[in-house]
Amino acid sequence: MAFEKSLTIIFGVVACLLSVALATPGTATFYTSYVPSACYGNKDSGVMIAAASDPLWANGGICGKVFNVTCTGPTNPVPHPCTGQSVVVKIVDHCPGCGGTLDLSREAFAAIANPVAGIIKIEFNQIG
Ligand SMILES: *[C@@H]1O[C@H](CO)[C@@H](O)[C@H](O)[C@H]1NC(C)=O
Repeated sequence: MAFEKSLTIIFGVVACLLSVALATPGTATFYTSYVPSACYGNKDSGVMIAAASDPLWANGGICGKVFNVTCTGPTNPVPHPCTGQSVVVKIVDHCPGCGGTLDLSREAFAAIANPVAGIIKIEFNQIG
């Protein structure tokens, strides 16, 4: 019994470490003009979308990938920007000069943080 319990704890710790390891830290900004996009041209992809910065862009290889994005804190004097929610977005565009890791749609940004903050710290995981 004690052995099974410690196995359960070990698996729990490993699962926890893995989920932490899979979450990538970065920063997020937002944008408001969604079409045309670098991935889909004039096709409308809705508003739960984001644009990838150069380090993630991979020559368009990231197009259509789905990320779960969580606000982790402020980068500027807006003291408590995070809403505590996460948001799932699809990459539809490229933002060579957006100044963050991900450029979220205004709607996606507003789901996880106060847009007044402009730029926030995030963690993101690819989930699709
Ligand atoms: C997104 O990440 C948050 C924080 O890690 C988690 O609570 C939530 O369940 C995740 N949502 C999805 C759809 O993966």
